[in-house]
Amino acid sequence: MSLFPAVALVLGIHTPPDSGAALFQEWCKSCHGADGRGTPAASTRLEVPPADLQDCKGSTAEPEERWVEIVSQGGAAFGLSLDMPAFGEAATPSQIRAVVRYARSLCGELGWPPGELNFPRAFLVEKAYPEDEWVLSAAGREQDLIYERRVGKRLQLEGVARTVFDSADRPFGGVTLAAKYNLWHSLPRRALASFGLEATPPLGRQDRWEVEPFVAFGASPAAGFIVQGEITSTWEETQGISAFSYRLGVGREMGRSRLVPMVEAGWTVPVDGGGQRALSLYPQVWVRLSRLGHVAASLGAELPAVGPEPRHPRLIAFVLWDFGDAPLLRGW
Ligand code: HEC
Repeated sequence: MSLFPAVALVLGIHTPPDSGAALFQEWCKSCHGADGRGTPAASTRLEVPPADLQDCKGSTAEPEERWVEIVSQGGAAFGLSLDMPAFGEAATPSQIRAVVRYARSLCGELGWPPGELNFPRAFLVEKAYPEDEWVLSAAGREQDLIYERRVGKRLQLEGVARTVFDSADRPFGGVTLAAKYNLWHSLPRRALASFGLEATPPLGRQDRWEVEPFVAFGASPAAGFIVQGEITSTWEETQGISAFSYRLGVGREMGRSRLVPMVEAGWTVPVDGGGQRALSLYPQVWVRLSRLGHVAASLGAELPAVGPEPRHPRLIAFVLWDFGDAPLLRGW
């Protein structure tokens, strides 16, 4: 029996030397502080302040695997500060897992949706995970600038401004305001569901109020497979409920989740014979651009299969920056 367990036994200390808590005090305290909030002395010595590991939003928004990688390979491997050391040589994988689990327990609050359920953004289906994000999205000649902001554990507020550059001389398309709330999430089931409401006032090319309540879900039924879906109805001023839309997307993570090919289908059913049913398919590829993964892009096409003529395919694309994860120019 080595000395430490013997002494611990005698003194009645219940923390084995390999527990995450003990490893944290030994390896991480000098910079992150005994409580994980960062030591003030270290903050002045280090170029970048050590991450506040007690911050629930910061720690829960990332999957455990990402922290395991950062602690094993060091900050530099993800374009973060060189001061965040790599422990992969000195520590065993189980020690790293233990210290990371301990660091992630420092948040100490339940109810935050875990980053494992933050599936890649699809073009059509609304993401169920609440985000801190800027997105610039384009479909044919229309562009959307989207700002999403998390509020508390489960709420997200959103603003969208649209422009359209076609033959009509009115580029301002309008704005949409939205709120989304994560109703349910389960890490063991790898799934989450959210409810939301979008409202578009009569501004720009939009001539009447439009309100769209929706339910969105995401799930990963098998490792690397992603399914996302959304059901929404459209309520229009003077007309009432004008349509229901059913949207479903499937994706497959490839190349250590650097690339995610996806295909979505969108089925719109007008109410009371108010127009034709429409079905479109959206093949697309999501690409992680930054090493940290906080900047990503997607490219694909909208292919109308059923519905009103003329049915022209359109190019679709977006680029996004998850500003909750890191500043735009870090993490490359
Ligand atoms: C020598 C100082 C130092 C030590 C020791 C250290 N860290 Fe860090 N750590 C940092 C700095 C600085 C950052 C911020 C990196 C950045 O944002 O560029 C950081 C960032 C992190 C992050 C990223 C957080 C995020 O939000 O992405 C994690 C996770 C982390 N450290 C965990 C640990 C753990 C666990 C240990 C102990 C095994 C540890 N660190 C030891 C300095 C240190």
